[in-house]
Amino acid sequence: MKGIILCGGAGSRLYPLTKITSKQLLPVYDRPMVFYPLQTLLSAGIREILFIAAPESAGDFLRLLGSGKEYGAKFTYEIQDRPEGLAQAFIIGQNFIDDDNVALILGDNIFEDDFSSAISKFKSGGHIFAKKVPDPERFGVVRFNEKMQAEEIVEKPLGRISDYAITGLYIFDSRVVEVAKNLEKSARGEYEITDVQNWYLRKGELQATAIEGEWIDAGTFDSLLKANNYAARKHAQEARQEKTQNTQAQGARKIANQNV
Ligand code: TTP
Repeated sequence: MKGIILCGGAGSRLYPLTKITSKQLLPVYDRPMVFYPLQTLLSAGIREILFIAAPESAGDFLRLLGSGKEYGAKFTYEIQDRPEGLAQAFIIGQNFIDDDNVALILGDNIFEDDFSSAISKFKSGGHIFAKKVPDPERFGVVRFNEKMQAEEIVEKPLGRISDYAITGLYIFDSRVVEVAKNLEKSARGEYEITDVQNWYLRKGELQATAIEGEWIDAGTFDSLLKANNYAARKHAQEARQEKTQNTQAQGARKIANQNV
């Protein structure tokens, strides 16, 4: 499984924060935003990762992240000349993907869940992850049947067809490159990821799983603030856990020494 982190886009909703830098380089508590999706892929065992960025900020990503050696991974970089839609990632990443499966993650998406199992079990087709949200109309949505199988996928529906937003992590087999190449732009002028998902859905090869953990799409001022608060909380929680573990380990060592 290879990984792509999509770090282009206009970031217009975060203007003027994004006037001189890329959205995915903005701070989220103690690190740049892109570190969170990167951690999601690394934790899932993915070691070959392609970053796709806009021409004016690609150099910043390279300076920040380098070769990947520091992370025990191999990083490569490509440029998206214009933000023409999420599905364009598979066309830009064609040579990188080659004949392998690929996980695409959006550079402004923060996940609490661990995807190692879904990624290691993946064989072919497509796999998407949905989350129940109060405002699904802002996203691509998936409607499930009573067996929790995906029945319908719609990009930013006008009415409420489901409470489940499709999150920004998508796994596909290598056919995705040809699927993306054959797409036509939507009415809003983008190559839509939902059209790719629908191709797999029509073939009966799309798995959709509902996730329970936190998911934040940090593309607005409010969600960016939410992401910062979430990351700070997680950081404090981990520090507390580490302290407890150290105290327990010290206690165990003390007992062991007394028994010698
Ligand atoms: P969006 O948040 O939908 O778009 P945006 O980043 O351009 O923001 P805005 O709507 O405020 O102008 O994009 C989701 C993610 O995908 C985000 O990380 C940016 C990235 N992206 C690309 O890299 N290339 C693209 O062509 C698009 C549309 C998005």
